[in-house]
Amino acid sequence: MKKILITGCAGYIGGTFCYEALKKNYEVLGIDNFINSTDKNIKYFKKNFSKFRFVDLDLSISGEKVKDIFNDFAPDYVVHFAGLKAVGESETKPDLYWQNNVLSTMNIMEACLSGTRLIFSSSATVYGESVIQPISEKCAIKSESVYGSTKISSELLIKDYSRTKNIEAICLRYFNPVGSHKDGIVVEDYTNKPNNLMPKLIEVIKNKSNEISVFGNDYNTQDGTGERDYIHISDLVAGHFSAIEYIYDNEENLFKTYNLGTGKATSVLELVESFNRVNSTNIKIDFTDRRKGDVEVCYADPHLANCELKWKAVYSIDEMCRDAWNAVKNDT
Ligand code: NAD
Ligand code: UFG
Repeated sequence: MKKILITGCAGYIGGTFCYEALKKNYEVLGIDNFINSTDKNIKYFKKNFSKFRFVDLDLSISGEKVKDIFNDFAPDYVVHFAGLKAVGESETKPDLYWQNNVLSTMNIMEACLSGTRLIFSSSATVYGESVIQPISEKCAIKSESVYGSTKISSELLIKDYSRTKNIEAICLRYFNPVGSHKDGIVVEDYTNKPNNLMPKLIEVIKNKSNEISVFGNDYNTQDGTGERDYIHISDLVAGHFSAIEYIYDNEENLFKTYNLGTGKATSVLELVESFNRVNSTNIKIDFTDRRKGDVEVCYADPHLANCELKWKAVYSIDEMCRDAWNAVKNDT
C-alpha cells in the first residue's frame, strides 16, 4: 500500500485527512510539534491503526532531520498541512508566521527528491479582497495580511522547486472549512478562544451565553452580513484524495493550484439560522462593528477542481452545522 507523509496531522484538517488515509489503509508517517494542537488525535491514531507512526518535530527549525525522515520513510505522497493560521495573530507576530510557515515549507521542499508528489494547504486568503466573485484561480493574488503573505510565498516557493527539482505539486486553496467528520473522532477546536464563526457558535452554546456577536450588518450583501463559501471538512478532505489521484495520473513537471469550495455564498445570518434550526438551539444575534480586515464577500468558482480533479463538494450548510455540533455536543 502507498505511503503518505502528513505534516500537521495533530490538527483539525490534517487530523481529519490522516484519519481518512488510515481508514483507506495508507501507511502514514505523521509530523507535528503541537504548537496549535494537543496529542489527542495522535494518541487515537497510535492506538487504533498499526500503520501509523509519528514524529514530534518543529518542521521550521530542523531541516536535516526533515531530510532524514524523508529518506527513511520514502513517501509516495507528502501532504503538507502544518502551519499557523490566525490572521490577527499573524499581524502581531510576523516573525513567528514567516519563520514557522515559510521555513517549514522550505525544509519540506529541500527534503523532497525528484519525483516527489506534494499537496499543499493554501487558502482563499491569497486572493485578498477580490472584486471578482466568484473567485477563480485566474483572479489576481494579493496579500492583505502576514498570514496571506506566508501562503503566497509558500506557493511561489513550491512552484520554483516543482520546476527546478521535478517535484509534482498541487496547492489547494481552501475557502471556509467547517464542521467535523461524521465519526466525530477529529474535531475542530472550539475551546481555545475561537475567532471563526462555526467554533464560535459552539463556544457560545457551551458557555451558555447563547449570543453571537455578528461583525457588521451594513455590507452590500442580501442581508447586510458577510458572505462566505463554507465547505464541509469531509468534502475538503475528499478533495485531497482527488488531488492525490490526479497527481498520480499526471506526472511530468506538474504544478497546479485549485480552489476547494462549494461555489455558494452564505451569509452569517443564514449560517446562524441553519445552526439553530438543525440543532434546536437558540443562539441570538448581537450586531457589532465590522471586524478589521474582513472582506464583504468571498466565494469560490470551483469549476477547475470539478473538471480536472473530478471532485465536487456535496454537503449542505445544514449538514455542516449538524455535523459540527454532533461531534462535540456530548463533550463535558
Ligand atoms: P490546525 O492549527 O488545527 O492544524 C495545524 C497543525 O500544524 C497543528 O497541529 C500544529 O501544531 C501543526 N504545526 C504548525 N506549525 C508546525 C511546525 N512548524 N512543525 C510541526 N507542526 C506544526 O489548523 P488547520 O485548520 O488544520 O489548518 C491546516 C492547514 O490548512 C494550515 O496550513 C492552514 O493555514 C490551512 N488553512 C486552514 C483554513 C481553516 O479555516 N482552518 C483555511 C485555509 C487554509
Ligand atoms: N463572524 C462573525 N462573528 C464571529 C466570527 C465571525 O460575525 O464571532 C463573521 C465574519 O465577520 C465573517 C464570517 O463570520 O463575515 C466568517 O468569519 P470566519 O472568521 O469564520 O472566516 P473568515 O472568512 O474571516 O476567515 C477564513 C479563515 C482565514 C482565511 C480567510 C480567507 O479563518 O484563515 O477565511 O480565506 F484567511
